Amino acid sequence: MIKVGVLGAKGRMGSLVSETVRGARDLELVAEVDAGDSRDDLRGCDVVVDFTSPGVVMDNLRWCVRSGLNMVIGTSGFDGARLAEANDLLDNSTRQTPRAAAAQPRVLVVPNFSVGAVLMMKFAEQAARFFESAEIVELHHAGKVDAPSGTAARTAAMIAAARSAAGTGPAPDATATQLEGARGAVVDGVHVHSVRMAGLVAHQEVLLGGHGETLTIRHDSLDRASFMPGVLMAVRGITSLSPGLTVGLEGLLGLA
Ligand SMILES: NC(=O)c1ccc[n+]([C@@H]2O[C@H](COP(=O)([O-])OP(=O)(O)OC[C@H]3O[C@@H](n4cnc5c(N)ncnc54)[C@H](O)[C@@H]3O)[C@@H](O)[C@H]2O)c1
Repeated sequence: MIKVGVLGAKGRMGSLVSETVRGARDLELVAEVDAGDSRDDLRGCDVVVDFTSPGVVMDNLRWCVRSGLNMVIGTSGFDGARLAEANDLLDNSTRQTPRAAAAQPRVLVVPNFSVGAVLMMKFAEQAARFFESAEIVELHHAGKVDAPSGTAARTAAMIAAARSAAGTGPAPDATATQLEGARGAVVDGVHVHSVRMAGLVAHQEVLLGGHGETLTIRHDSLDRASFMPGVLMAVRGITSLSPGLTVGLEGLLGLA
């Protein structure tokens, strides 16, 4: 049995993860921790799943790594700077904390657990070098506290890396005057537009434009249940990863 702990257990995602773990025969839910609870119950876990918020996840990460615990992180906000911080934290903790040094913890940061979304990002990465223009529109429920989404930021980074490797120049854009924010946020040179709206769950379009044609790659998460197969895959697969930081489900899906 794989012993699982959940951080953010009372939240929308955390509560669904707890329910899903309870329903899996090979998994045992040993700790459900939310804001204000002690994290001590997590100590016996084989893997801790974090669905909290960008403001608290780094403190949870530090605590878990120092405790020698493997961690699957779904919480968003992991841009390049934050990933570098997470890497440093893992390096320092495994050198300085005996428990972490002995356990060599794995930390898997997953910007999107939906298999469809991972494929959408992969397809966008493959297509990006063939088009002059690439922009992202991400659309989420009105309760989401951060923008752009982690998925959009990661897609932008993947598109930018693919374009840079292929020598694709910057996308044409004649905008000379604009209201602040009208062209969205710029992530790694890619414009990202964030929509927040009641009734939505999690959606993203990658728009690619070339000579006389456009390609739109769209993914819709219609229900949070779409994230659960990916969460289970991460929980079951984390010990197969190298110690330290891994980003994305691609490796576990055989897409890396
Ligand atoms: N990677 C993905 O596929 C994916 C999918 C959906 C949501 N998310 C992200 O997951 C995160 C959670 O989303 P949500 O919709 O469940 O949010 P939510 O607000 O419903 O839940 C967050 C929970 O974390 C708890 N919390 C706050 N501080 C805590 C702490 N220090 N320790 C333990 N628990 C704490 C809150 O009390 C709350 O219950 C967000 O960052 C969201 O963007 C990621």
